[in-house]
This record gives sequence, structure tokens and C-alpha cells, in this order.
Amino acid sequence: MSTTTRCLAATALAGALTAVSGAAGATGAAGAAVLPYQDPSLPVATRVTDLLARMSLDDKVGQMTQSERGITTAADITDFRLGSVLSGGGSAPSNNTPAGWADMYDSYQRGALATPLQIPILYGIDAVHGNNNVPGSTIFPHNIGLGATRDPAMVERIGQATAEEVTGAGQDWTFAPCVCVARNDRWGRTYESYGEKPELATAMTTVIDGLQDNGVLATAKHYVGDGGTTGGVDQGNTEISEAELRAVHLPPFRAAVERGVGSVMVSFSSFNAAKLHGHRYLITDVLKGELGFTGFVVSDWAGIDQLDGQRGFTQAEVATAVNAGLDMVMVPVDWKTFVGYLRAAVQAGQIPMSRIDDANRRILTKKFELGLFEKPYADRSLAATIGSAGHRALARQAVRQSQVLLKKGILPLAKSGGKIFVAGKSADDIGNQSGGWTLSWQGSSGNTVAGTSILSGIRAAVGSDATVTYNRDGTGIDNTYRAAIAVVGETPYAEGQGDRPGSLGLDATDLATLSRLRATGVPVIVVLVSGRPLDIAAELGGWNALLAAWLPGSEGAGVADVLFGDHAPTGKLPVTWMQSAAQQPINDGDGQAPLFPYGFGLTYTEAPVDTGSCRVRYTTSDWSSGFTGTVALTNTGPAAITPWSLSWTFTGGQTVTQAWSARVTQSGSVVTATGEAWSTALAPGATISFGFNGAHPGSNPRPGSFSLNGVPCATA
Ligand code: GLC
Repeated sequence: MSTTTRCLAATALAGALTAVSGAAGATGAAGAAVLPYQDPSLPVATRVTDLLARMSLDDKVGQMTQSERGITTAADITDFRLGSVLSGGGSAPSNNTPAGWADMYDSYQRGALATPLQIPILYGIDAVHGNNNVPGSTIFPHNIGLGATRDPAMVERIGQATAEEVTGAGQDWTFAPCVCVARNDRWGRTYESYGEKPELATAMTTVIDGLQDNGVLATAKHYVGDGGTTGGVDQGNTEISEAELRAVHLPPFRAAVERGVGSVMVSFSSFNAAKLHGHRYLITDVLKGELGFTGFVVSDWAGIDQLDGQRGFTQAEVATAVNAGLDMVMVPVDWKTFVGYLRAAVQAGQIPMSRIDDANRRILTKKFELGLFEKPYADRSLAATIGSAGHRALARQAVRQSQVLLKKGILPLAKSGGKIFVAGKSADDIGNQSGGWTLSWQGSSGNTVAGTSILSGIRAAVGSDATVTYNRDGTGIDNTYRAAIAVVGETPYAEGQGDRPGSLGLDATDLATLSRLRATGVPVIVVLVSGRPLDIAAELGGWNALLAAWLPGSEGAGVADVLFGDHAPTGKLPVTWMQSAAQQPINDGDGQAPLFPYGFGLTYTEAPVDTGSCRVRYTTSDWSSGFTGTVALTNTGPAAITPWSLSWTFTGGQTVTQAWSARVTQSGSVVTATGEAWSTALAPGATISFGFNGAHPGSNPRPGSFSLNGVPCATA
């Protein structure tokens, strides 16, 4: 941690200053005695108490108000004593450079320091995968890809890198991480989640340390249950028991609080029809009481407007939200009205002063801990880290580790010799590979940010004696190519605009490209750039290989590192992969048979299986429309085989309906069985037996062959 950056361990910082200023207490400029709250040698709680006692109602109301930069001047901050300003997604200064952002921040701070008590503002921004609003910033993989890495230590390093780039551009607060637990892939914010299980988001709260230990306030969001709404509807209704809410959606917030997260953002969604923005029990009793959260609670964008179901907000809604436990209210547009309502609600006794003081105490505590009273202006010393080679190398490593190999085929590709054809709408589109929340709220296709596209990564990976031909829709391919790489998937979206209540399949553009490539007989390797699993089971049988790339961000070369074997794929699915959209929501343990289970992911270091070193005994007991299959797989070779993956092809239209003692998935007519977490290894001479039930349309022909990790087995 560099001493030039703010850090939340302000006591250490204050101690350091005490050594400089001496036991008598600090003195201000020109030796004038300063007030206690201005003395960094005093404990934060003492400074807060002193400052609070000096604040008028207007000062306190202003501190609880967050306005949007687009309609806020420095003079507004002075006149209304505003406590915070934010940039909504894509809301940037006219000079949209890191220096321009820092200049804007300093201008607002000067407005704050022109108030009688000189309380600095906090500037909030959605730095959710790097400092994604500011041009030139490193764009890291979105959270769903980071969930696939299962690497909390790396995610902490990403938090540090993000904090450095945020600080270098002048901001001091990010509305991240989203610790939402995405339970329905139809949700447009699935990619902002680390995955479908609370333990993933819980593990990845290390990003909070990376951010806050390096001077940027973090936000755990959206409290609580935003990923569990019925139908995956964004800002919808989470209709589950409190027990399930506590088991699935609350643990990541508990972990964030234990890590000292400075703020928590409330969800737009409802819990059993009660809007979270007015939920006193969950905010005050559970979050602040039971979990012991001592930071401050901020609303979401105009979130209080939704409380009464009418447009805009009323004084009653203001009172409901603040009494429920909201400490700062994000009022992007009509913040002057909000200031008036909040003051009036206090004066009318609708909000007790104790609630106002508690909110201010929470907010001021974080401002003192950040060291804003001592160092209110942008720390431009870190501007050089923005988009730096070191940060991009970290992002590229995160891309490598986030890749999940779902079908191996001929991967890894050789780098030398022959011709490789690259196609697909996301092969040469850094905007698609970055996804939403990139320069703008929704993100956009095209050459939007600095970095490397997946295509440029492929070109850089192959040797001089290999040729790479690119055509977006596959025009020009023929059977002289040794492989075709199709980079397809989703175009950028954010929040509700990404909800998909209907199809979750590939779009017509991608399907046409894939059809063109497949018609030549060239092995087609599909790289899926998407914010969630897609409904691809019907097409998978015609693909040679499948790599889930998620939304890798600016360093697309990390995908090529895996395609060509510089990095063996290590990613594991953070979400269950559906067989069909009709299964949504589908989650591990819900009894449904997925295409690929949660935690699935192949690699290149599968133990080579010598031909003839495995034997399969396959038996069935049949009835009119179904059957039970039993498989005994024996390792007849000298070496352990781990992990193992046995596959076969049904030729009679059979379908697996459930399985036991192994993870059995089916894609078209191809069935793949892999070990359970406790049975991934097959020792020499060992036999693993597993079974499954299946349906058949009248006959149940025996599969012709079985292959283990791609190598044919003998059959008993
Ligand atoms: C948005 C999002 C939230 C974001 C906030 C500020 O509506 O719900 O995640 O932090 O507004 O942009």
C-alpha cells in the first residue's frame, strides 16, 4: 500500500501524522489552531462527534444527498452542502480523459471545501470491471468469468489494480462488487454475479480488500436477493422463504461486512412484494443489527421513487426510506426537491434526528477513514497505472483462468502450419468481448476501448508458417483449412435491458455463420462470448469444441492463450449450464439434468489414456418407453486416470433423464459421464460403476463404442 494513496486504515495514517505534528495536536496552515475534527491525530470517532456537534440540519441533510454530475455544479455543492456526487454509467466530463476526470473531481472538492465546515465529498462511480467509465482503463473480465477462475487471491489483486486506476482518475468510491447470487440465467445482470452459489460471491469478497486497502471505498450490492427474482426479472420480486434468502443471498453480505466493506447499496427488487428500499427489518435489523454493518447504506439510482409505485418521489417515500435505514440517497436528478423533503420530514417529526445523526455518523466515519479531510484532492500520482502493462498482464491472466472448456475436440490448436479460419461477430469486436458497463451504461459493439480483440490474440499466437484468415460471417471458407474458430454469442447489455424472458439461444447471425463453417466439414471450434450460459445443446453435436469465454474485457489475447495451449484451461462453471431454456431456473442440486453441471470444466492435462487401457461393461433393463442403464468402467492400464470423462453416442433417440454415482450430461445424441467431486480419479485396475435412467422411442439400441478421455475402450 503506497502512502500516497488514501487507505481506510486511517488510524495508521493518523498515527503517522501524529509523529509529524507532535503530541500537542495538529495545527493548520500558518500555525492556526485547528478544530478537533480537523485534527488527524485524534481518533476518528472523536472527530466525528466533534464535527456532528457543529453541523446544522442543512449540513446533515446535504451529507445524505448524492446527486448526478451531469446536473451538479461546484456551486451547488457549496450551496446545498452535498455529501456526494456520482457518475451514472457513461456520465463523463467533457474532457473525457483521466486528467479531465481528476480536474472535475477537484472542482467539486473545491466546492465542498468552500462550505463553512469544509466537509469533502465522496465521488461514486461504477468501476465494476476495472475503471470502465474512463477511457484508457484496463477492462477486466466481468464477475461471472472471475467466478469461473475460483481464484480469490487474483480477484483481490484485480481490486487493487482497479483502485489504483480509479484513484489515478480522481474518484474515491466504486459501486462494486456486486455480490449478487444469480439463480436464473434469464436475468440481465447474471454476468455481474460471480455465480449461482453464495460461496462463490463470498469467496470473491477479497476484491473489497483490494479496493479499500488501496484507498477506494467499496460497495457490496444489491442488498438483498436481487439475483433470486421470479423469472429472473431485473428489479423484480424475490418470492422465497426468509430461510432461503438467508441461506443463498445473505452470506456474501455477511462476508463483505466482516471484511469491513464501507458501503452497501440497496436492491431495487422486492422480497415477497416488499420493496428493499423501504425494508426496515432487512436493512436496519438484519444488515446493521444482526450483521453489525457500521458503514453506510446508499440507495440505488432513484430507488426511493419506486416505493409507492408512482413516478417520482414524495416526502413520505423519503421518510420511509430513511427510517428503514438508508443513510445516503442517490437522487440523480431531482436532488433539490429531495433536500427540501428530507429537511421537512425531520422538522415535521417524521424522521427522528437520531436517525439523521446516525446516518451522518456513518458517512463521516468513512470520509475520515479515507483521509479525505487531509487529502481531499485527486491523487494523480497513480494516473500512470491507468491501462498500464502490469494491469493488462493481470487482466490477461484473469482471462486465461476464466476460460471454461466444455468440449475439447482437437484443442489445443497447433501454432504452426496450415490455415486457420476465424469468423463470428465477436472475433474482432472488443466492445462485444467487454460487455455492458464499458464506457457507457449499456456498453456497445465495435472498437470501443484500448486492448486486444480475440482475433488479434489469435493472429499474434500463430507462427509465421501458419496463416489466419478472418471473415465476420465465414464467407470464403473451404475445406483446405485445418480448423475454423467461430467467436459468437451476445452483444452488450446492462440491467433489465439484458433480461431474456424468451429464447436464450444464439442469434440468427451466429447460426448462419456456424452453418456456413460447418458445411465445409472443417472442425469448428466455438468460442462463446456471453454474459451467461446460452441454449446451445441442439448445435453442440456439430461443433468440434466449445470454450466459454464469458465477457473477457480488453485483453482478448488471453482467450488465444488457451486456444493454442499456452495456458491449459482451468476454469470451472460458476453456473449450471442448461440443456434447454425451458429448464430455467436451473441450479446445482435442483434435480434437473443439465447439459454441463456446475463446476464442470475440461483441461488439456487429462491423463493420456493408452488405447486398450479401459474396459466398459454396459447393461440395461428395458421397459416399453424407458430403461435403466448401468455402466462399469475399469481402468486396465498402469496409470491413474484423472479426471475421467466417458462418452458414447445413442443411435436410437434415447435421452438420459436422471443419473447417479456420476455426472451424466447429454448433448444431442452424445452422452458424457464424469466423476462426482469425490470420484474424479480412476486408479489402475479400479472399476467405477454408475447408473442412469433413460427414455427411448420404442427401441433401445446399444451404443456402438465408448471412449474415455477421447480414447476408445474395450467392451465387456
Ligand atoms: C444502476 C445500478 C447500480 C449502479 C447504480 C449507479 O441502476 O442498479 O448497480 O451502481 O445505478 O450507476
